[in-house]
Amino acid sequence: MFNIKHSLELLVSAAIAEATGLSNCNANVIYSSRPEFGDYQANGIMAIAKQLKSNPRELAVRVVSALQSNDLIADAQVAGPGFINLFLNDATLATAATRFAHGEQNLLGAVDHPQRIVVDYSGPNLAKEMHVGHLRGTIIGDSIVRVLEAVGHDVIRQNHVGDWGTQFGMLIAHMESLGENSTKVHTQLADLETFYREAKSRFDLEPGFADLARSYVVKLQGGDRDCLSAWQKFIDESLGHCEDIYELLGVTLSKDDLRPESFYNNELADIVNALREANMLTASEGAQCVFLEEFKGKEGTPLPAIVQKSDGGYLYATTDLAALRYRGKNLAAERVLYVVDARQSLHFQQVFAIARKAGFVPGACSLEHIAYGTMMGEDGKPFKTRSGDTVKLKELLDESVRRAHDIVSAKSPELSPEHREQISNVVGIAAVKYADLSKNRTSDYVFDWSTMLSFEGNTAPYMLYAYARIKSILRRQGEGVHPERSEVRITAVEERNLIIKILQFPEVVDVVASECYPNYLCAYLYELAGIFMRFYEACPVLKAESDLRASRVTLVSLTAATLKQGLGLLGLETLEQM
Ligand code: ARG
Repeated sequence: MFNIKHSLELLVSAAIAEATGLSNCNANVIYSSRPEFGDYQANGIMAIAKQLKSNPRELAVRVVSALQSNDLIADAQVAGPGFINLFLNDATLATAATRFAHGEQNLLGAVDHPQRIVVDYSGPNLAKEMHVGHLRGTIIGDSIVRVLEAVGHDVIRQNHVGDWGTQFGMLIAHMESLGENSTKVHTQLADLETFYREAKSRFDLEPGFADLARSYVVKLQGGDRDCLSAWQKFIDESLGHCEDIYELLGVTLSKDDLRPESFYNNELADIVNALREANMLTASEGAQCVFLEEFKGKEGTPLPAIVQKSDGGYLYATTDLAALRYRGKNLAAERVLYVVDARQSLHFQQVFAIARKAGFVPGACSLEHIAYGTMMGEDGKPFKTRSGDTVKLKELLDESVRRAHDIVSAKSPELSPEHREQISNVVGIAAVKYADLSKNRTSDYVFDWSTMLSFEGNTAPYMLYAYARIKSILRRQGEGVHPERSEVRITAVEERNLIIKILQFPEVVDVVASECYPNYLCAYLYELAGIFMRFYEACPVLKAESDLRASRVTLVSLTAATLKQGLGLLGLETLEQM
Protein backbone atom coordinates (compact mmCIF):
# COMPACT_ATOMS: atom_id res chain seq x y z
CA MET A 1 0.00 0.00 0.00
CA PHE A 2 1.31 3.45 -0.91
CA ASN A 3 2.03 5.15 2.39
CA ILE A 4 4.61 7.93 2.64
CA LYS A 5 4.59 8.00 6.41
CA HIS A 6 5.13 4.30 6.62
CA SER A 7 7.96 4.39 4.07
CA LEU A 8 9.64 7.18 6.03
CA GLU A 9 9.32 5.19 9.24
CA LEU A 10 11.04 2.23 7.60
CA LEU A 11 13.85 4.39 6.22
CA VAL A 12 14.51 6.19 9.49
CA SER A 13 14.24 3.02 11.58
CA ALA A 14 16.78 1.34 9.33
CA ALA A 15 19.10 4.32 9.79
CA ILE A 16 18.62 4.15 13.56
CA ALA A 17 19.49 0.47 13.47
CA GLU A 18 22.55 1.24 11.40
CA ALA A 19 23.67 4.00 13.75
CA THR A 20 22.94 2.27 17.06
CA GLY A 21 22.65 -1.44 16.45
CA LEU A 22 19.12 -1.33 17.91
CA SER A 23 16.45 -2.92 15.77
CA ASN A 24 12.71 -2.19 15.86
CA CYS A 25 13.10 1.34 17.14
CA ASN A 26 10.17 3.69 16.87
CA ALA A 27 11.23 6.53 14.58
CA ASN A 28 8.02 8.32 15.56
CA VAL A 29 7.38 10.01 12.24
CA ILE A 30 4.65 12.66 12.29
CA TYR A 31 3.42 15.47 10.05
CA SER A 32 5.43 18.62 10.55
CA SER A 33 3.57 21.50 12.06
CA ARG A 34 5.28 24.15 9.93
CA PRO A 35 6.76 24.13 6.42
CA GLU A 36 10.22 25.11 7.70
CA PHE A 37 10.26 21.88 9.74
CA GLY A 38 9.90 19.84 6.57
CA ASP A 39 6.98 17.77 5.35
CA TYR A 40 7.34 15.15 8.06
CA GLN A 41 9.55 14.93 11.08
CA ALA A 42 11.05 12.02 13.00
CA ASN A 43 10.74 12.60 16.73
CA GLY A 44 11.90 9.24 18.03
CA ILE A 45 15.58 10.06 18.47
CA MET A 46 15.30 11.73 21.89
CA ALA A 47 13.75 8.66 23.51
CA ILE A 48 16.34 6.36 21.98
CA ALA A 49 19.22 8.63 23.05
CA LYS A 50 17.84 8.63 26.56
CA GLN A 51 17.74 4.85 26.54
CA LEU A 52 21.36 4.75 25.29
CA LYS A 53 22.42 7.58 27.59
CA SER A 54 23.88 9.42 24.64
CA ASN A 55 23.54 12.94 23.30
CA PRO A 56 20.33 13.17 21.23
CA ARG A 57 21.60 15.78 18.78
CA GLU A 58 24.73 13.79 18.05
CA LEU A 59 22.66 10.67 17.62
CA ALA A 60 20.34 12.52 15.22
CA VAL A 61 23.37 13.57 13.15
CA ARG A 62 24.58 9.97 12.99
CA VAL A 63 21.12 8.73 12.00
CA VAL A 64 20.89 11.29 9.22
CA SER A 65 24.24 10.22 7.81
CA ALA A 66 23.19 6.58 8.07
CA LEU A 67 20.07 7.21 5.96
CA GLN A 68 20.24 5.01 2.92
CA SER A 69 20.09 6.72 -0.39
CA ASN A 70 16.47 6.76 -1.52
CA ASP A 71 14.29 8.80 -3.81
CA LEU A 72 11.67 9.76 -1.23
CA ILE A 73 13.69 12.05 1.04
CA ALA A 74 15.27 15.05 -0.64
CA ASP A 75 16.75 16.42 2.54
CA ALA A 76 16.95 15.48 6.23
CA GLN A 77 17.94 18.15 8.74
CA VAL A 78 18.67 17.86 12.43
CA ALA A 79 16.77 20.45 14.42
CA GLY A 80 16.30 21.47 18.04
CA PRO A 81 17.29 18.91 20.67
CA GLY A 82 17.31 16.01 18.18
CA PHE A 83 14.38 16.18 15.78
CA ILE A 84 14.96 15.18 12.19
CA ASN A 85 13.05 17.27 9.66
CA LEU A 86 12.29 15.41 6.48
CA PHE A 87 11.75 17.11 3.14
CA LEU A 88 10.19 15.04 0.39
CA ASN A 89 11.56 14.79 -3.12
CA ASP A 90 9.48 16.77 -5.64
CA ALA A 91 10.16 14.47 -8.56
CA THR A 92 9.01 11.45 -6.57
CA LEU A 93 5.85 13.26 -5.49
CA ALA A 94 5.04 14.26 -9.06
CA THR A 95 5.64 10.74 -10.33
CA ALA A 96 3.47 9.21 -7.62
CA ALA A 97 0.64 11.62 -8.44
CA THR A 98 1.02 10.84 -12.15
CA ARG A 99 0.82 7.11 -11.49
CA PHE A 100 -2.36 7.55 -9.49
CA ALA A 101 -3.84 9.68 -12.26
CA HIS A 102 -2.96 7.02 -14.83
CA GLY A 103 -4.68 4.42 -12.71
CA GLU A 104 -1.46 2.42 -12.41
CA GLN A 105 -1.90 2.61 -8.70
CA ASN A 106 -5.13 2.73 -6.80
CA LEU A 107 -5.34 5.59 -4.34
CA LEU A 108 -6.08 2.97 -1.73
CA GLY A 109 -3.98 -0.10 -2.25
CA ALA A 110 -4.66 -3.18 -0.16
CA VAL A 111 -3.20 -3.81 3.29
CA ASP A 112 -0.33 -6.27 3.46
CA HIS A 113 -2.12 -8.51 5.92
CA PRO A 114 -5.87 -8.69 5.32
CA GLN A 115 -7.79 -9.83 8.37
CA ARG A 116 -11.15 -11.41 8.96
CA ILE A 117 -12.93 -8.68 10.92
CA VAL A 118 -16.37 -9.00 12.49
CA VAL A 119 -18.12 -5.67 13.02
CA ASP A 120 -21.11 -5.59 15.35
CA TYR A 121 -23.10 -2.42 14.79
CA SER A 122 -26.58 -0.89 14.77
CA GLY A 123 -28.18 -3.66 16.91
CA PRO A 124 -31.49 -1.98 17.72
CA ASN A 125 -33.93 -3.53 20.16
CA LEU A 126 -36.92 -4.69 18.18
CA ALA A 127 -39.37 -4.27 21.06
CA LYS A 128 -39.19 -0.53 20.58
CA GLU A 129 -38.62 2.06 17.94
CA MET A 130 -34.97 2.42 16.88
CA HIS A 131 -33.69 5.54 18.65
CA VAL A 132 -30.98 8.15 18.22
CA GLY A 133 -28.44 6.05 20.13
CA HIS A 134 -28.72 3.41 17.44
CA LEU A 135 -28.55 6.09 14.79
CA ARG A 136 -25.03 7.00 15.89
CA GLY A 137 -23.85 3.40 16.01
CA THR A 138 -25.38 2.68 12.63
CA ILE A 139 -23.71 5.64 10.93
CA ILE A 140 -20.31 5.22 12.58
CA GLY A 141 -20.30 1.45 12.19
CA ASP A 142 -21.21 1.69 8.55
CA SER A 143 -18.34 4.04 7.82
CA ILE A 144 -15.93 1.73 9.62
CA VAL A 145 -16.96 -1.32 7.60
CA ARG A 146 -16.61 0.66 4.37
CA VAL A 147 -13.10 1.71 5.33
CA LEU A 148 -12.06 -1.79 6.38
CA GLU A 149 -13.38 -3.30 3.18
CA ALA A 150 -11.77 -0.62 1.04
CA VAL A 151 -8.31 -1.51 2.32
CA GLY A 152 -8.88 -5.18 1.66
CA HIS A 153 -10.04 -6.72 4.92
CA ASP A 154 -12.57 -9.50 4.94
CA VAL A 155 -15.44 -7.89 6.84
CA ILE A 156 -18.41 -9.69 8.35
CA ARG A 157 -21.20 -7.41 9.51
CA GLN A 158 -23.27 -8.58 12.45
CA ASN A 159 -26.47 -6.84 13.35
CA HIS A 160 -27.06 -8.07 16.90
CA VAL A 161 -30.68 -6.98 17.16
CA GLY A 162 -32.52 -7.48 20.44
CA ASP A 163 -35.38 -9.81 19.53
CA TRP A 164 -35.66 -11.89 22.70
CA GLY A 165 -36.54 -11.39 26.34
CA THR A 166 -39.52 -11.11 28.63
CA GLN A 167 -40.87 -7.92 27.07
CA PHE A 168 -41.83 -9.85 23.96
CA GLY A 169 -44.33 -11.84 26.02
CA MET A 170 -46.11 -8.61 26.84
CA LEU A 171 -45.98 -7.36 23.26
CA ILE A 172 -47.33 -10.55 21.76
CA ALA A 173 -50.09 -10.76 24.34
CA HIS A 174 -51.10 -7.22 23.39
CA MET A 175 -50.85 -7.97 19.69
CA GLU A 176 -52.91 -11.15 19.96
CA SER A 177 -55.64 -9.40 21.92
CA LEU A 178 -56.00 -6.88 19.09
CA GLY A 179 -57.15 -9.76 16.92
CA GLU A 180 -55.61 -11.93 14.28
CA ASN A 181 -56.42 -9.45 11.56
CA SER A 182 -52.98 -8.70 10.26
CA THR A 183 -53.80 -5.42 8.54
CA LYS A 184 -55.03 -4.06 11.82
CA VAL A 185 -51.91 -5.26 13.58
CA HIS A 186 -49.86 -3.75 10.80
CA THR A 187 -51.36 -0.30 11.35
CA GLN A 188 -51.03 -0.58 15.09
CA LEU A 189 -47.41 -1.52 14.80
CA ALA A 190 -46.68 1.37 12.49
CA ASP A 191 -46.11 3.31 15.66
CA LEU A 192 -43.99 0.94 17.70
CA GLU A 193 -43.41 3.37 20.48
CA THR A 194 -47.12 3.87 21.20
CA PHE A 195 -47.70 0.16 20.80
CA TYR A 196 -45.03 -0.56 23.37
CA ARG A 197 -46.40 2.04 25.75
CA GLU A 198 -49.93 0.65 25.51
CA ALA A 199 -48.73 -2.89 26.13
CA LYS A 200 -46.67 -1.72 29.07
CA SER A 201 -49.53 0.16 30.65
CA ARG A 202 -51.82 -2.86 30.31
CA PHE A 203 -49.07 -4.95 31.88
CA ASP A 204 -48.89 -2.56 34.81
CA LEU A 205 -52.59 -1.85 35.26
CA GLU A 206 -54.91 -4.38 33.67
CA PRO A 207 -55.84 -7.29 35.92
CA GLY A 208 -54.70 -10.62 34.46
CA PHE A 209 -52.70 -9.12 31.62
CA ALA A 210 -49.33 -9.50 33.34
CA ASP A 211 -50.05 -13.17 33.94
CA LEU A 212 -51.08 -13.61 30.34
CA ALA A 213 -47.85 -11.92 29.23
CA ARG A 214 -45.80 -14.20 31.46
CA SER A 215 -47.53 -17.27 30.12
CA TYR A 216 -46.55 -16.11 26.63
CA VAL A 217 -42.93 -15.85 27.70
CA VAL A 218 -43.02 -19.40 28.98
CA LYS A 219 -44.68 -20.64 25.79
CA LEU A 220 -42.22 -18.72 23.66
CA GLN A 221 -39.26 -20.21 25.45
CA GLY A 222 -40.87 -23.64 25.25
CA GLY A 223 -41.01 -23.27 21.47
CA ASP A 224 -44.82 -23.11 21.19
CA ARG A 225 -45.62 -22.86 17.49
CA ASP A 226 -48.44 -20.32 17.60
CA CYS A 227 -46.56 -18.18 19.96
CA LEU A 228 -43.45 -18.28 17.85
CA SER A 229 -45.37 -17.33 14.76
CA ALA A 230 -46.96 -14.37 16.53
CA TRP A 231 -43.52 -13.36 17.77
CA GLN A 232 -42.14 -13.67 14.23
CA LYS A 233 -44.89 -11.43 12.94
CA PHE A 234 -43.97 -8.79 15.47
CA ILE A 235 -40.25 -9.09 14.70
CA ASP A 236 -40.85 -8.78 10.96
CA GLU A 237 -42.89 -5.63 11.44
CA SER A 238 -40.28 -4.10 13.66
CA LEU A 239 -37.42 -5.09 11.39
CA GLY A 240 -39.30 -3.43 8.56
CA HIS A 241 -38.98 -0.13 10.44
CA CYS A 242 -35.23 -0.58 10.76
CA GLU A 243 -34.88 -1.45 7.11
CA ASP A 244 -36.69 1.73 6.12
CA ILE A 245 -34.18 3.69 8.16
CA TYR A 246 -31.23 1.79 6.70
CA GLU A 247 -32.46 2.47 3.22
CA LEU A 248 -33.05 6.15 3.88
CA LEU A 249 -29.59 6.44 5.41
CA GLY A 250 -27.95 4.43 2.67
CA VAL A 251 -26.20 2.08 5.07
CA THR A 252 -24.88 -1.24 3.85
CA LEU A 253 -26.65 -3.51 6.36
CA SER A 254 -28.86 -6.15 4.81
CA LYS A 255 -31.00 -9.05 6.00
CA ASP A 256 -27.99 -11.34 5.64
CA ASP A 257 -26.17 -9.43 8.33
CA LEU A 258 -28.87 -10.10 10.93
CA ARG A 259 -27.68 -12.30 13.74
CA PRO A 260 -30.31 -11.59 16.35
CA GLU A 261 -30.04 -12.47 20.02
CA SER A 262 -32.45 -15.37 19.52
CA PHE A 263 -29.93 -16.98 17.17
CA TYR A 264 -27.90 -17.91 20.25
CA ASN A 265 -30.77 -19.33 22.34
CA ASN A 266 -29.61 -22.91 22.02
CA GLU A 267 -26.08 -22.03 23.05
CA LEU A 268 -26.85 -20.30 26.33
CA ALA A 269 -27.08 -23.38 28.55
CA ASP A 270 -23.82 -24.58 27.11
CA ILE A 271 -22.11 -21.27 27.79
CA VAL A 272 -23.08 -21.54 31.45
CA ASN A 273 -21.87 -25.16 31.53
CA ALA A 274 -18.57 -24.25 29.94
CA LEU A 275 -18.06 -21.55 32.55
CA ARG A 276 -18.92 -24.03 35.27
CA GLU A 277 -16.41 -26.54 33.91
CA ALA A 278 -13.79 -23.82 33.82
CA ASN A 279 -14.51 -23.22 37.53
CA MET A 280 -15.48 -19.68 36.81
CA LEU A 281 -19.00 -19.71 38.28
CA THR A 282 -20.09 -18.58 41.72
CA ALA A 283 -23.66 -18.82 42.98
CA SER A 284 -24.78 -15.57 44.53
CA GLU A 285 -28.34 -15.09 45.79
CA GLY A 286 -29.41 -17.94 43.57
CA ALA A 287 -27.91 -16.43 40.41
CA GLN A 288 -24.90 -17.76 38.54
CA CYS A 289 -22.15 -15.17 38.43
CA VAL A 290 -18.62 -14.73 37.25
CA PHE A 291 -16.37 -12.70 39.53
CA LEU A 292 -13.12 -11.56 38.02
CA GLU A 293 -10.24 -10.00 39.93
CA GLU A 294 -9.99 -7.03 37.62
CA PHE A 295 -13.58 -5.88 38.18
CA LYS A 296 -14.24 -4.20 41.47
CA GLY A 297 -17.07 -1.91 42.41
CA LYS A 298 -16.91 1.02 44.82
CA GLU A 299 -14.62 0.43 47.80
CA GLY A 300 -13.23 -2.70 46.22
CA THR A 301 -16.39 -4.79 46.48
CA PRO A 302 -16.35 -7.60 43.92
CA LEU A 303 -18.38 -6.84 40.81
CA PRO A 304 -20.12 -9.84 39.28
CA ALA A 305 -21.22 -10.48 35.72
CA ILE A 306 -24.48 -12.40 36.00
CA VAL A 307 -24.92 -15.13 33.40
CA GLN A 308 -28.00 -16.91 34.75
CA LYS A 309 -30.78 -15.56 36.93
CA SER A 310 -32.21 -17.48 39.87
CA ASP A 311 -35.29 -18.37 37.78
CA GLY A 312 -33.01 -19.98 35.20
CA GLY A 313 -33.28 -17.15 32.69
CA TYR A 314 -30.26 -15.92 30.78
CA LEU A 315 -29.07 -12.37 30.34
CA TYR A 316 -27.62 -9.89 27.88
CA ALA A 317 -24.11 -10.93 28.93
CA THR A 318 -24.81 -14.63 28.38
CA THR A 319 -25.97 -13.94 24.85
CA ASP A 320 -22.93 -11.79 24.18
CA LEU A 321 -20.64 -14.57 25.39
CA ALA A 322 -22.35 -16.99 23.02
CA ALA A 323 -22.08 -14.46 20.21
CA LEU A 324 -18.41 -13.93 20.90
CA ARG A 325 -17.69 -17.65 20.93
CA TYR A 326 -19.54 -17.97 17.62
CA ARG A 327 -17.51 -15.13 16.14
CA GLY A 328 -14.23 -16.57 17.34
CA LYS A 329 -14.90 -20.21 16.50
CA ASN A 330 -17.44 -20.29 13.65
CA LEU A 331 -16.66 -17.03 11.92
CA ALA A 332 -12.91 -17.36 12.59
CA ALA A 333 -12.63 -13.67 13.39
CA GLU A 334 -9.17 -12.24 13.95
CA ARG A 335 -10.61 -8.99 15.17
CA VAL A 336 -14.07 -8.22 16.57
CA LEU A 337 -15.32 -4.65 16.78
CA TYR A 338 -18.36 -3.63 18.82
CA VAL A 339 -19.65 -0.26 17.72
CA VAL A 340 -21.83 0.32 20.76
CA ASP A 341 -22.77 3.13 23.14
CA ALA A 342 -20.02 4.03 25.62
CA ARG A 343 -22.40 3.37 28.50
CA GLN A 344 -21.98 -0.35 27.81
CA SER A 345 -18.25 -0.20 28.36
CA LEU A 346 -18.19 -2.21 31.59
CA HIS A 347 -20.40 -4.86 30.01
CA PHE A 348 -17.97 -5.36 27.15
CA GLN A 349 -14.88 -5.33 29.33
CA GLN A 350 -16.45 -8.09 31.39
CA VAL A 351 -17.61 -10.10 28.39
CA PHE A 352 -14.17 -9.83 26.75
CA ALA A 353 -12.34 -10.83 29.92
CA ILE A 354 -14.65 -13.78 30.62
CA ALA A 355 -14.51 -15.01 27.03
CA ARG A 356 -10.71 -14.88 27.06
CA LYS A 357 -10.42 -16.64 30.37
CA ALA A 358 -12.86 -19.34 29.29
CA GLY A 359 -11.05 -19.76 25.97
CA PHE A 360 -14.11 -18.83 23.87
CA VAL A 361 -11.91 -16.82 21.51
CA PRO A 362 -8.38 -17.49 20.27
CA GLY A 363 -5.80 -15.54 22.26
CA ALA A 364 -4.66 -13.60 19.20
CA CYS A 365 -8.13 -12.34 18.37
CA SER A 366 -8.41 -8.64 19.07
CA LEU A 367 -11.59 -7.56 20.88
CA GLU A 368 -12.45 -3.88 20.76
CA HIS A 369 -15.32 -1.84 22.05
CA ILE A 370 -15.65 1.03 19.58
CA ALA A 371 -17.52 3.26 21.99
CA TYR A 372 -19.47 6.36 21.14
CA GLY A 373 -20.99 9.05 23.32
CA THR A 374 -24.57 10.15 23.76
CA MET A 375 -26.42 12.35 21.32
CA MET A 376 -27.53 15.45 23.19
CA GLY A 377 -30.19 18.01 22.46
CA GLU A 378 -29.37 21.72 22.33
CA ASP A 379 -30.36 21.87 26.01
CA GLY A 380 -27.41 19.62 26.84
CA LYS A 381 -29.65 16.71 27.85
CA PRO A 382 -30.00 13.43 25.95
CA PHE A 383 -31.82 14.12 22.70
CA LYS A 384 -35.63 13.88 23.07
CA THR A 385 -38.68 15.54 21.61
CA ARG A 386 -40.17 18.52 23.40
CA SER A 387 -42.61 16.30 25.23
CA GLY A 388 -39.76 14.05 26.35
CA ASP A 389 -40.46 11.20 23.93
CA THR A 390 -37.90 9.35 21.87
CA VAL A 391 -37.37 11.03 18.54
CA LYS A 392 -38.58 8.98 15.61
CA LEU A 393 -35.66 8.56 13.27
CA LYS A 394 -37.81 8.65 10.17
CA GLU A 395 -39.18 12.04 11.23
CA LEU A 396 -35.74 13.31 12.07
CA LEU A 397 -34.35 12.37 8.66
CA ASP A 398 -37.41 13.76 6.86
CA GLU A 399 -37.00 17.00 8.72
CA SER A 400 -33.36 17.23 7.70
CA VAL A 401 -34.31 16.77 4.04
CA ARG A 402 -37.05 19.39 4.42
CA ARG A 403 -34.66 21.89 5.98
CA ALA A 404 -32.08 21.19 3.29
CA HIS A 405 -34.77 21.85 0.72
CA ASP A 406 -35.52 25.29 2.19
CA ILE A 407 -31.85 26.18 2.16
CA VAL A 408 -31.23 24.91 -1.38
CA SER A 409 -34.33 26.72 -2.67
CA ALA A 410 -33.16 29.98 -1.13
CA LYS A 411 -29.62 29.56 -2.38
CA SER A 412 -30.31 28.30 -5.89
CA PRO A 413 -33.84 29.30 -6.94
CA GLU A 414 -32.84 28.91 -10.60
CA LEU A 415 -32.62 25.12 -10.36
CA SER A 416 -35.56 23.01 -11.49
CA PRO A 417 -37.83 21.66 -8.73
CA GLU A 418 -36.67 18.09 -9.50
CA HIS A 419 -33.06 19.07 -9.24
CA ARG A 420 -33.63 20.90 -5.98
CA GLU A 421 -35.40 17.88 -4.59
CA GLN A 422 -32.59 15.57 -5.61
CA ILE A 423 -30.01 17.86 -4.02
CA SER A 424 -31.94 18.20 -0.77
CA ASN A 425 -32.40 14.44 -0.48
CA VAL A 426 -28.67 13.96 -0.66
CA VAL A 427 -27.72 16.97 1.46
CA GLY A 428 -30.33 16.31 4.15
CA ILE A 429 -29.16 12.76 4.81
CA ALA A 430 -25.49 13.63 4.40
CA ALA A 431 -25.86 16.45 6.93
CA VAL A 432 -27.07 14.13 9.68
CA LYS A 433 -24.42 11.52 8.91
CA TYR A 434 -21.50 13.89 8.51
CA ALA A 435 -22.35 15.86 11.66
CA ASP A 436 -22.01 12.65 13.59
CA LEU A 437 -18.96 11.28 11.78
CA SER A 438 -16.98 14.50 11.97
CA LYS A 439 -17.01 14.56 15.77
CA ASN A 440 -14.72 12.46 17.89
CA ARG A 441 -17.02 9.50 18.49
CA THR A 442 -16.10 9.06 22.15
CA SER A 443 -17.51 12.45 23.16
CA ASP A 444 -21.15 13.22 23.66
CA TYR A 445 -22.36 15.22 20.74
CA VAL A 446 -24.90 18.00 20.48
CA PHE A 447 -27.42 17.62 17.70
CA ASP A 448 -27.83 21.03 16.13
CA TRP A 449 -29.65 21.71 12.87
CA SER A 450 -28.06 25.04 12.09
CA THR A 451 -24.45 23.86 12.21
CA MET A 452 -25.02 20.58 10.45
CA LEU A 453 -26.81 22.29 7.55
CA SER A 454 -24.42 25.21 7.29
CA PHE A 455 -22.43 25.74 4.10
CA GLU A 456 -19.48 26.91 6.15
CA GLY A 457 -17.06 24.90 8.19
CA ASN A 458 -16.52 21.16 8.35
CA THR A 459 -20.05 20.17 7.33
CA ALA A 460 -21.72 17.99 4.72
CA PRO A 461 -23.11 20.93 2.71
CA TYR A 462 -19.64 22.49 2.55
CA MET A 463 -17.99 19.23 1.49
CA LEU A 464 -20.61 18.35 -1.09
CA TYR A 465 -20.52 21.86 -2.47
CA ALA A 466 -16.72 21.79 -2.65
CA TYR A 467 -16.89 18.56 -4.59
CA ALA A 468 -19.55 19.83 -6.99
CA ARG A 469 -17.54 23.00 -7.55
CA ILE A 470 -14.40 21.02 -8.38
CA LYS A 471 -16.41 18.94 -10.82
CA SER A 472 -17.70 22.07 -12.47
CA ILE A 473 -14.14 23.42 -12.77
CA LEU A 474 -13.24 20.16 -14.50
CA ARG A 475 -16.17 20.47 -16.87
CA ARG A 476 -15.38 24.08 -17.75
CA GLN A 477 -11.59 24.05 -17.79
CA GLY A 478 -10.61 20.48 -18.34
CA GLU A 479 -11.75 20.13 -21.90
CA GLY A 480 -9.29 18.31 -24.12
CA VAL A 481 -7.13 17.20 -21.22
CA HIS A 482 -6.81 13.50 -20.40
CA PRO A 483 -5.61 13.08 -16.83
CA GLU A 484 -5.06 9.38 -17.49
CA ARG A 485 -2.29 10.29 -19.93
CA SER A 486 -1.01 13.58 -18.51
CA GLU A 487 2.11 14.26 -16.47
CA VAL A 488 1.86 15.97 -13.11
CA ARG A 489 4.45 18.69 -12.54
CA ILE A 490 5.39 20.79 -9.54
CA THR A 491 5.93 24.45 -10.36
CA ALA A 492 4.42 26.14 -7.33
CA VAL A 493 4.24 25.43 -3.62
CA GLU A 494 0.44 25.24 -3.80
CA GLU A 495 0.71 22.39 -6.30
CA ARG A 496 3.19 20.62 -4.09
CA ASN A 497 0.98 21.02 -1.02
CA LEU A 498 -2.00 19.67 -2.88
CA ILE A 499 -0.08 16.67 -4.19
CA ILE A 500 1.23 15.79 -0.74
CA LYS A 501 -2.25 16.08 0.70
CA ILE A 502 -3.72 13.81 -1.96
CA LEU A 503 -0.96 11.26 -1.47
CA GLN A 504 -1.69 11.24 2.26
CA PHE A 505 -5.18 9.86 1.68
CA PRO A 506 -4.08 6.22 2.11
CA GLU A 507 -2.29 7.12 5.34
CA VAL A 508 -5.41 8.58 6.85
CA VAL A 509 -7.57 5.70 5.75
CA ASP A 510 -5.05 3.31 7.21
CA VAL A 511 -5.28 5.03 10.59
CA VAL A 512 -9.09 4.99 10.46
CA ALA A 513 -8.96 1.27 9.68
CA SER A 514 -6.86 0.57 12.74
CA GLU A 515 -8.25 3.08 15.22
CA CYS A 516 -11.82 3.41 13.96
CA TYR A 517 -12.16 7.19 14.20
CA PRO A 518 -14.01 8.37 11.08
CA ASN A 519 -13.57 11.99 12.23
CA TYR A 520 -9.92 11.74 11.13
CA LEU A 521 -11.14 11.14 7.61
CA CYS A 522 -13.60 14.05 7.81
CA ALA A 523 -10.85 16.37 9.05
CA TYR A 524 -8.57 15.20 6.25
CA LEU A 525 -11.19 15.78 3.53
CA TYR A 526 -12.00 19.19 4.93
CA GLU A 527 -8.31 20.13 4.84
CA LEU A 528 -7.98 18.72 1.34
CA ALA A 529 -10.85 20.93 0.18
CA GLY A 530 -9.15 23.95 1.77
CA ILE A 531 -5.74 23.17 0.24
CA PHE A 532 -7.43 22.73 -3.11
CA MET A 533 -9.04 26.17 -2.85
CA ARG A 534 -5.64 27.73 -2.15
CA PHE A 535 -4.16 25.90 -5.13
CA TYR A 536 -6.99 27.04 -7.35
CA GLU A 537 -6.61 30.66 -6.27
CA ALA A 538 -2.85 30.64 -6.85
CA CYS A 539 -2.52 28.46 -9.93
CA PRO A 540 -4.48 29.41 -13.05
CA VAL A 541 -5.68 26.36 -14.93
CA LEU A 542 -7.21 27.58 -18.18
CA LYS A 543 -4.58 30.24 -18.83
CA ALA A 544 -1.58 27.98 -18.20
CA GLU A 545 0.47 26.79 -21.19
CA SER A 546 -0.55 23.40 -22.46
CA ASP A 547 1.59 20.95 -20.41
CA LEU A 548 1.13 22.89 -17.24
CA ARG A 549 -2.57 23.15 -17.90
CA ALA A 550 -2.75 19.38 -18.35
CA SER A 551 -0.84 18.91 -15.11
CA ARG A 552 -3.17 21.22 -13.22
CA VAL A 553 -6.31 19.71 -14.67
CA THR A 554 -4.95 16.35 -13.58
CA LEU A 555 -4.57 17.65 -10.05
CA VAL A 556 -8.13 18.95 -10.10
CA SER A 557 -9.29 15.56 -11.26
CA LEU A 558 -7.25 13.72 -8.60
CA THR A 559 -8.70 15.99 -5.93
CA ALA A 560 -12.21 15.21 -7.11
CA ALA A 561 -11.50 11.49 -7.13
CA THR A 562 -10.03 11.60 -3.63
CA LEU A 563 -12.95 13.59 -2.27
CA LYS A 564 -15.45 11.29 -3.86
CA GLN A 565 -13.76 8.17 -2.59
CA GLY A 566 -13.30 9.65 0.87
CA LEU A 567 -16.90 10.80 1.15
CA GLY A 568 -17.95 7.39 -0.11
CA LEU A 569 -16.04 5.76 2.74
CA LEU A 570 -18.07 7.89 5.10
CA GLY A 571 -21.21 6.63 3.42
CA LEU A 572 -21.96 9.96 1.71
CA GLU A 573 -23.32 10.25 -1.78
CA THR A 574 -21.87 13.07 -3.87
CA LEU A 575 -23.51 15.40 -6.39
CA GLU A 576 -21.91 16.36 -9.68
CA GLN A 577 -23.75 19.65 -9.69
CA MET A 578 -25.23 21.74 -6.95
N1 ARG B 1 -29.37 -4.12 21.45
C1 ARG B 1 -28.33 -3.48 22.19
C2 ARG B 1 -28.83 -2.14 22.72
O1 ARG B 1 -29.72 -1.56 22.17
C3 ARG B 1 -27.10 -3.25 21.37
C4 ARG B 1 -26.43 -4.49 20.88
C5 ARG B 1 -24.96 -4.29 20.77
N2 ARG B 1 -24.26 -5.49 20.42
C6 ARG B 1 -23.97 -6.44 21.27
N3 ARG B 1 -23.34 -7.50 20.82
N4 ARG B 1 -24.29 -6.38 22.53
O2 ARG B 1 -28.29 -1.64 23.67
